[in-house]
Amino acid sequence: MVGVVPVCSVRAGAGRTGAGAGCGVLAGVGAGWRVRGGLEWVPMSSLDHLRDPERYPRSAGYDPAWLLGLDMGPNPLWLLEDLARDLDLRPGMRVLDLGSGKGATSVFLAREYGVSVVADWWVEACEAAAVFAEAGVGAQVEAVRAEAHQLPFEPESFDAVVSVDAFEYFGTADTYLPYLVRFLRPGGQLGVATPAMTREVRDLGAVPDHIGRVVGWEAIAWHTAEWWRFLWEVTGLVRVTSARLQQDGWRDWLVWERACAEHLPRERASHQAVVDMLTQDQGRLLSFALLSARRH
Ligand SMILES: C[S@@+](CC[C@H](N)C(=O)[O-])C[C@H]1O[C@@H](n2cnc3c(N)ncnc32)[C@H](O)[C@@H]1O
Repeated sequence: MVGVVPVCSVRAGAGRTGAGAGCGVLAGVGAGWRVRGGLEWVPMSSLDHLRDPERYPRSAGYDPAWLLGLDMGPNPLWLLEDLARDLDLRPGMRVLDLGSGKGATSVFLAREYGVSVVADWWVEACEAAAVFAEAGVGAQVEAVRAEAHQLPFEPESFDAVVSVDAFEYFGTADTYLPYLVRFLRPGGQLGVATPAMTREVRDLGAVPDHIGRVVGWEAIAWHTAEWWRFLWEVTGLVRVTSARLQQDGWRDWLVWERACAEHLPRERASHQAVVDMLTQDQGRLLSFALLSARRH
């Protein structure tokens, strides 16, 4: 995203607005211009930067303001769209969206891939249902409030389990993958997007200061992609099909946090702290891991 990116047009259709404004980032994160009404150039706001049709064409059809209104973590649609490139999601599949927050990813799964989704909630089910109904996917997405270690589902009842920016809270124990895969049919897929570091905290000896100041010990769970690959594969229960750091994950994260700091005034301080953390990091350590596996 740094540097010159060609002028682009936003895909209309699947999103809530279907807005078709053209945009062109001229230089760096947070700078740029867009065309208004096809006639005049106006400066891009941090919200405009949350549309990137070149890299994330499906997500570009969703209104960034809608997405920010459901904020519980950075770039959920970008993470999911990228993760889905490593998965094989087909219409009619039954997918568990584990740790689905306020539901943006569940709406995206239902609309973009035609799958039926069971969304796992800490958020009140009625709040979830309202998001799904308003997005027109109420019949496809079922909200279930459940703790990740006590899932109220039948064994082998899902074609896929997807988890965006949530697995770091409950999935790092040696015992968790063996617990979770029982809910996948044989051959079923697991896809996880989770904050990650380029080096293990254990190898660094401590959580680096600029990260610890903002998230404290939580960063211990931000493992490298290779750490996850080993943890999963050594169980013999799955074949890891992909374990990679998201390209430009750090930069995407910064774009999101800047937009939150600008547009969510009540949470400005916490988002600005993350902006500062990422700015200091410069992508040396911080990114996201995208992990995919199939149950044997
Ligand atoms: C940072 S939010 C991300 C939400 C959403 N996936 C997104 O990207 O917007 C983390 C989510 O993990 C869920 N979560 C954390 N610990 C959990 C647990 N033990 N069981 C179930 N969900 C959990 C929270 O409820 C929350 O929705």
